[in-house]
Amino acid sequence: MIQSNFMNRIIVGDALRVLREIPSEIIDMGVTSPPYNKGENKKGWLVKNVKYKDSSDKVPEEAYQENQVAVLNELFRVTKSGGSFFYNHKVRWERGYMLHPMDWLRKTKWTIRQEIIWDRKIAANIRGWRFWQVEERIYWLYKPVDKHYIGQELKPKHALLTSIWRLPPENKNPHPAPFPIELPVRAIYSVMDNNKGIIIDPYCGSGTTLVASKLLGHDYIGIEISKEYADSAEIRLLNCENERKDTLSEIAKHIVTRTFFERKADGMYTGRHGVKYTPKEEPIPLKLFEPTANYDKQTKNKPTRKKKSDPDRRLELREEVLQRLKAHQASKKTSQV
Ligand SMILES: C[S@@+](CC[C@H](N)C(=O)[O-])C[C@H]1O[C@@H](n2cnc3c(N)ncnc32)[C@H](O)[C@@H]1O
Repeated sequence: MIQSNFMNRIIVGDALRVLREIPSEIIDMGVTSPPYNKGENKKGWLVKNVKYKDSSDKVPEEAYQENQVAVLNELFRVTKSGGSFFYNHKVRWERGYMLHPMDWLRKTKWTIRQEIIWDRKIAANIRGWRFWQVEERIYWLYKPVDKHYIGQELKPKHALLTSIWRLPPENKNPHPAPFPIELPVRAIYSVMDNNKGIIIDPYCGSGTTLVASKLLGHDYIGIEISKEYADSAEIRLLNCENERKDTLSEIAKHIVTRTFFERKADGMYTGRHGVKYTPKEEPIPLKLFEPTANYDKQTKNKPTRKKKSDPDRRLELREEVLQRLKAHQASKKTSQV
């Protein structure tokens, strides 16, 4: 029944309603980016306004969060114990009040295994009310086996990719809010490694998670409220070979080039057990700028120096510092004699 009704298909409908039809404990992992309830009248300065075809991205915040908790709990039910879900969202503000995904994630049944920063490198809004927000969040949610909340270790080649994912946003896809294919590929390949399973995306949009799943050899289930997006995702899935190159270039990043001990020896490993930095030289006393009495006269008729390029200036500065260091050491030696 599962095979014919859901597997390797996109079901058009509301995520919560469709999830309630799916049997328990059949999913290995999922990746999604839900609508963010950003309020459709707010425009970003640098990105196109996100408006979906068949759903509103402007509902009362309380109802939105309640719905997200219900959807996440249904996802928990359909996922096997030991399974994972990667949930992409962002920090928002409503009239100055911060709305954080943790506000509702803590109300779900999932164990929050990690908060990953997705560094998109570009801000949606460049006003100065806050530092430009160039990041989104990805929550790794975990369904424990019995009461083992920690779960299995990632292989080093995946863990080395760190908790900051620097992936530029997708700009070739006509969907209003797609994520780049590298994002679901990284999540799925890291957790599943070479095991095969069933991957779900309950807000699958243009089908990015499903294409990643198919190219990595998994079965998938997609849910999408807009028939138009679902249809274009089906076409994308038929042509998924066009995206194998991007998938492989993400997979190529999962590699251990140096062992832990080699990294430590090269000084790449720091931390609790690492070698602490102890300065060998006494710090050079800083000389503050003291204007002389006729400073104005001295500077007024001075010919302006040609501005040097940054690398030149850096070399010059380095030379100056070395000279000062030498002079300082020489003066110390003579004072000791
Ligand atoms: C952020 S987009 C997902 C984009 C997707 N990750 C991609 O790469 O194309 C959210 C999607 O959720 C869909 N959506 C909105 N409300 C929904 C609901 N109640 N149930 C299912 N899908 C919904 C929207 O139509 C939109 O395509």
